[in-house]
Amino acid sequence: MLMTEKDDKAEKVFYVTTPIYYPSDNLHIGHAYTSVAADCIARYKRMRGYDVFFLTGSDEHGQKIERKAREQGITPIAYVDPIVANFKRLWQRLHVDYDDFIRTTEPRHQECVQAIFKQIYERGDIYKSKYQGWYCTPCETFWMERQLQDGNCRDCGRPVEFMEEESYFLRLSKYQDQLLQYIEEHPDLIQPVSRRNEMVNFVKSGLEDLCVSRTTFNWGIPVTFDPKHVVYVWFDALVNYISALNWRPERTDPRFERYWPHVVHFVGKDIVRFHTVIWPIILMAAGLQPPQAVYGHGWLLLEGGKMSKSKGNVVDPLVLTDHYGVDAVRYYLLRELPHGDDGHYTEENLVERINTDLANDLGNLISRSFGMIDKYWDGTVPVPGYYSMVDDKLIRTHEEARRNLEESLDRYDFCGALAAIWQLVRRANQYVDETEPWKLARREEMRERLGTVLYNLLEAVRVLTVWCTPFMPIFPDRVWEQMGIADRPDLRTWDSAAIWSGWLAPGSKISRGPGIFPRIVDSEDEGKGADQAKEKEDPVSGRQAGPKPLSKLGEKPEITIDEFARVDLRVALVRQVERIKGADRLLKLEVDLGSETRTVVAGIAQHYRVEDLLGKRVVIVANLAPAKLRGVTSHGMILAAVDENGLGVLTVDRDLPPGTQAR
Ligand code: ME8
Ligand code: MG
Repeated sequence: MLMTEKDDKAEKVFYVTTPIYYPSDNLHIGHAYTSVAADCIARYKRMRGYDVFFLTGSDEHGQKIERKAREQGITPIAYVDPIVANFKRLWQRLHVDYDDFIRTTEPRHQECVQAIFKQIYERGDIYKSKYQGWYCTPCETFWMERQLQDGNCRDCGRPVEFMEEESYFLRLSKYQDQLLQYIEEHPDLIQPVSRRNEMVNFVKSGLEDLCVSRTTFNWGIPVTFDPKHVVYVWFDALVNYISALNWRPERTDPRFERYWPHVVHFVGKDIVRFHTVIWPIILMAAGLQPPQAVYGHGWLLLEGGKMSKSKGNVVDPLVLTDHYGVDAVRYYLLRELPHGDDGHYTEENLVERINTDLANDLGNLISRSFGMIDKYWDGTVPVPGYYSMVDDKLIRTHEEARRNLEESLDRYDFCGALAAIWQLVRRANQYVDETEPWKLARREEMRERLGTVLYNLLEAVRVLTVWCTPFMPIFPDRVWEQMGIADRPDLRTWDSAAIWSGWLAPGSKISRGPGIFPRIVDSEDEGKGADQAKEKEDPVSGRQAGPKPLSKLGEKPEITIDEFARVDLRVALVRQVERIKGADRLLKLEVDLGSETRTVVAGIAQHYRVEDLLGKRVVIVANLAPAKLRGVTSHGMILAAVDENGLGVLTVDRDLPPGTQAR
């Protein structure tokens, strides 16, 4: 297809915004979600070749801020300045790499708000009247009597104040049908779909004209033609998305021309209404195009409630990043909030994610791959030889994961996108278990095959690192360093990661470095020393704990068949699996032995996922004396074989009935 240069550009332009935050509170980890998500999508689109403009900022006007400043006996600007400086510090820490930061107190913004207000007034959709109703100052929201919830704010439940003021009004009512039609014709405007239905119902229930100016306080942008009025703070705030693009009625600006309306506004679900009802109508009334998309994400909840300063349940993102690292905190946020839904923050979950997904899965894949290259191929990129079925399975997973990843990111489903990446992480780890490179390394005639396996592992590490870059911007540089391709940006483009193999030059040096994602070890775990649980649950794994020597055949004394017959080995069907709190190596399994169900504790949590064990037929020592591990009585032992690269449980070759004896 022939495309003009203009069409081509229009397709490759991407404008993304966060809300502009109120400088009334310190930002918490919930706020950080919006910014990290927007940053992730901005980085992704850049990698896909888009011209990206990423905007964030601060929403500094309004009665709430004026009051807080007065309480402290300082001017509003003196009150907000240091808080805004802290925002910038936080975004820098989280590697939120915005292109512009807009403050609503800047002249460029004020002039724009005044201009659009005047333009709508002149076009007849802002008019002067008298407001009588209720106002929630913490939310800066107007309510009609009938909209109150038990006499309080419908959004936050706090008390409202009665207001009677001469005000300017925006004719929302006039645009009700036009907005409904627009929403219908632009299914992308409100995402995800669940939020669209909510908003459609809200608009259908009837729109009242909106009060867009106040006269009883001063901390706001004056209406040019009636300066005792200041512009309503939400009207003021929403306009930031075009004031940052230098929009003015009387001139065309290249920034505005280029990026508007190719925008996605990332917002929390609490402010979707402002962005999908008031904002499009402001734009329509000014003769401008509504935004292309508004994505309303859920909240990060803490102990059952939304994180908020007034509830005293805030988690400070600076403290978390100091403790766990930026990549880990970003990974956690983006993995934990399901598409459009709420997520629940607990520090335990965070640690669990770091240890399981980052240390055991991804970190271990990287370190064992580089480790084997070091040991078996002299620390250089091997020459790939012939391919087999397992290789094919790995390559097909790569293809499938890439599709899922890109589709998820297209709908801003970060959780789904990370799950897609981890499809490949998991497959690559299984690939190691299946190909057993340590065995290939012992046989000279398998040298070529070993080369293929190691090459594929390096390729998996390269692809995965490329894919992780928008989510976790820091660790990739360490991988590139170790792979010796820090100066080869062409090997880490998104497109290069779509094509398997052929990128790394055989013979070039791999320099294995320290592990990328260390495990978080809780101090309690460490203090216990060599208790029974630890002995049992730390098989020779080669993971983090350091390799232990393989056991040699013949190191146990001979036994008679009668002695062997004393061991009651049974086929057991795994019915239930759960993790044991505070012991990240242990799993508690309920296994079916035909005539009874047993609880068995096994030190395999680092090697198996719950879903991979369910329904498996394993082999257990059924007459082993019960033992208590971490407070759980284990009645039997699961047989597993271990080598320096992992662990495999013993299973049967055929679906034998549970309880069948092995002898
Ligand atoms: O609303 N989990 O600013 P704000 C997820 N100034 N997101 C959360 C959250 C949580 N626990 N708590 C807050 C404003 N947020 C206005 C915006 S835009 C023209 C004006 C999100 O500082 C919240 O949903 O109160 C919102 O998207 C953002 O943080 C800013 O909240
Ligand atoms: Mg808020």
